[in-house]
Amino acid sequence: MTVSAPNVDFALLYADHFATMKRRADEALTRGGFDHLVVPSGTLHYQVFDDRDYAYAVNPQFKAWLPLTRVPYSWLVYTPGQRPKVIFYQPFDYWHVVPDAPSGWWVEHFDIHIIRKPDEALALLPKPVNRCAILGEPQSALGDYTPNSPDAVVNYLEYQRSYKTAYEIALMREAQHLAVRGHRAAEAAFREGKSEFAIHMAYCNAVGQDPSELPYNNIIGLNEHGAVLHYHDRCHTAPTPVRSFLIDAGASFHGYASDITRTYAMDTSGEFQALVNAVDAAQITMGEGVRAGVDYKQLHIDAHLSLMGILKDHGVIKVSPETALATGVSAAFFPHGLGHPIGLQVHDVAGFAESDHGGKIPRPQGHPYLRMTRVLEPGMVVTIEPGVYFIDMLLNEVKQNGHADSIDWARVDALRPYGGIRIEDEVLCTNGDAVNLTRPAFAEAV
Ligand code: GLY
Ligand code: MN
Ligand code: MN
Repeated sequence: MTVSAPNVDFALLYADHFATMKRRADEALTRGGFDHLVVPSGTLHYQVFDDRDYAYAVNPQFKAWLPLTRVPYSWLVYTPGQRPKVIFYQPFDYWHVVPDAPSGWWVEHFDIHIIRKPDEALALLPKPVNRCAILGEPQSALGDYTPNSPDAVVNYLEYQRSYKTAYEIALMREAQHLAVRGHRAAEAAFREGKSEFAIHMAYCNAVGQDPSELPYNNIIGLNEHGAVLHYHDRCHTAPTPVRSFLIDAGASFHGYASDITRTYAMDTSGEFQALVNAVDAAQITMGEGVRAGVDYKQLHIDAHLSLMGILKDHGVIKVSPETALATGVSAAFFPHGLGHPIGLQVHDVAGFAESDHGGKIPRPQGHPYLRMTRVLEPGMVVTIEPGVYFIDMLLNEVKQNGHADSIDWARVDALRPYGGIRIEDEVLCTNGDAVNLTRPAFAEAV
């Protein structure tokens, strides 16, 4: 995979990241009262009554330590004060491609033990088993080593994962560049009048990743399909006419995700383009709000007001943004959260965490889909993804709730065939200004 940042010294950054991981593990083990951290990479899962396996998904607690996303039946073992160990599964197998021998910037930091059969790990795991915090899914159990995933350990490690290391930020920037290649190819395919399926294929081809490698299922919607929030169908024929295109698609880089959405109008001088431009400009401003000390819940509420201001300007709603928010009209047009933490997982952990001991910060009432309720701190990376959609099911509820007069229904009728608009970037919180990780990747890809 090409690294488009030749000046980044990943080995140096990894050394720092590795030191951070050890410090975090030391504290997590102290809190949990354990001597060893044991993390299985995970196993293959099979379809019922079949020998067909599902796409393998590595344990995020494993890839937090190691840029290894394709080595099932492997283990990470860390004991404070000792050199960490990787039990690396490299079977003798002529049916499948066997993982390459360990290589890369991480190997010098570990004792590496190659195993040829999953059971061989047993002899290499630390003893006694009851002194081990084993973080993983139940299917990873091996002998007595059944994952116990102690709350005190997991809560601490997940909370700390909110604060990305410089190494992680560098990898996440690469995931942006990869995804942007796909977004450029997808827009070109849209403008050529291609089907959703063909656009999806153009995206995967440009990124160089198939759906099992991408961090989530591509959302590729033409016209009204842009209003289906998780639209995963892919029509093989393009509609007539093609009016609009919403694409929500990311890429993976050494286990780190990007999550990017863009919306396009075929007629770049029409009203829908004007609405896209307005949401795009508002989204940039929202991203600038990602600053230390700012409550993400407030950014979400402010986004409602900003989007309703746009709909008011475009004559879609007839009431003030504040009234639209208070009456639920706003939630009918913007029915999801402003965004979420992102990193090793596209919806990364600890978005609701009250502290590194656990606890949950609730969502504001009336906003059931918000995935981030914390106050922003330096090192956090969040998505900023405002959207406005024309969804009959939700607009009918507005009518039933007695607020039909708040909306100009003729304007809704005119815009419904375009589906909806969402614009999504990743933004890094720092000690100073917000750092948008996505926009520079688009600027460099022109
Ligand atoms: N692509 C999923 C999301 O934006 O959250
Ligand atoms: Mn997202
Ligand atoms: Mn997305």
